[in-house]
Amino acid sequence: MNKIVLSGIKPTGIPTLGNYLGALKNFVKLQKEMEDYDFYIFIADLHAITVFQDPKELKQNIKNLAAIYLACGLTEEKLTLFVQSEVNEHAALGYIMQSISYLGELERMTQFKDKMQKQVQGVTSALFTYPALMAADILLYDAKYVPVGEDQKQHLELTRDLAIRFNNRYGETFTVPEGLISEKGARIMDLQDPSKKMDKSSENGRGCIFLLEPLSSIKKKIKSAVTDSEAIVRYDQENKPGIANLMTIYSIISGLSYSEIESKYHGKGYGDFKKDLADIVADEIGVIQNRFQEIINSKKLEELFDQGREKAKAYASRKLQKVYKKVGLGR
Ligand code: AMP
Ligand code: TRP
Repeated sequence: MNKIVLSGIKPTGIPTLGNYLGALKNFVKLQKEMEDYDFYIFIADLHAITVFQDPKELKQNIKNLAAIYLACGLTEEKLTLFVQSEVNEHAALGYIMQSISYLGELERMTQFKDKMQKQVQGVTSALFTYPALMAADILLYDAKYVPVGEDQKQHLELTRDLAIRFNNRYGETFTVPEGLISEKGARIMDLQDPSKKMDKSSENGRGCIFLLEPLSSIKKKIKSAVTDSEAIVRYDQENKPGIANLMTIYSIISGLSYSEIESKYHGKGYGDFKKDLADIVADEIGVIQNRFQEIINSKKLEELFDQGREKAKAYASRKLQKVYKKVGLGR
């Protein structure tokens, strides 16, 4: 069996604390734990252009994101890092996936429905077929595990359905993947509106922490996060969503459990809690920012991208040939 863990992130804007705690930090942890697995991590630039991206910014974001991945602590050993659009097979298999997915199932995707509602004008057809491309990304490499945040769960389920459908129609071809969704951090919420997930494209930047913003600004955002009037540090997702969100961030970074955090701040107000949280978040992001500066202009990044592309292409092209043959395409 192929021992591959695969995931991707869109190079749209600067990654957020949500991306870090929900995805990046988890990759690093998994890479340490799953020693006998290969990690395929890619920059999903084809997914990014489902919404217009300024070409210059897109190019820069691709590099930045890769440097951030490495700065977060992914090790090069057992890592295949590549750019999605540099491996043409993604788009090609994406088309095959479109031709076995139904309108009805794509229409049910909540991410599409949300974006449709928010965006109203200029919703592209690629935004609609987005999950078919995502299925292709995963199935091309027979990935066994796919670590993602909670918001991608439905897309993963569709990927599994498509793999099974294809296998039933054309004979055993794809590995049916499994999602790896970390319990904590799967959904980091907006600091100003804890009913919404922290998202780089949210209108109110005050609720969103970007990994490359100045540490002083990060601290300020945490200190002004929305809480409640009870003034007791207590984990209650339903009634105290603001504090619960801050406690989740605290817990993931410090390794303390919710009850340990509760005891630590027993008898203290939100001020102390937020100040400490601001410090630990800034310390952790500070380390990432320093490493980022070393990596961003190094030759290393280009080398890894070149190696990654070759390795991904070799696997993907064999797989695609097999698929074409099964489907009966070509002569
Ligand atoms: P995106 O930036 O939408 O390409 O997301 C990249 C990865 O980060 C995916 O695995 C998402 O599930 C995860 N992610 C994005 N936003 C959040 C958030 N607020 N909390 C937790 N995970 C997130
Ligand atoms: N759709 C994912 C997101 O928005 C990014 C992504 C694209 C992805 N292709 C993937 C994640 C394949 C995991 C596997 O976050």
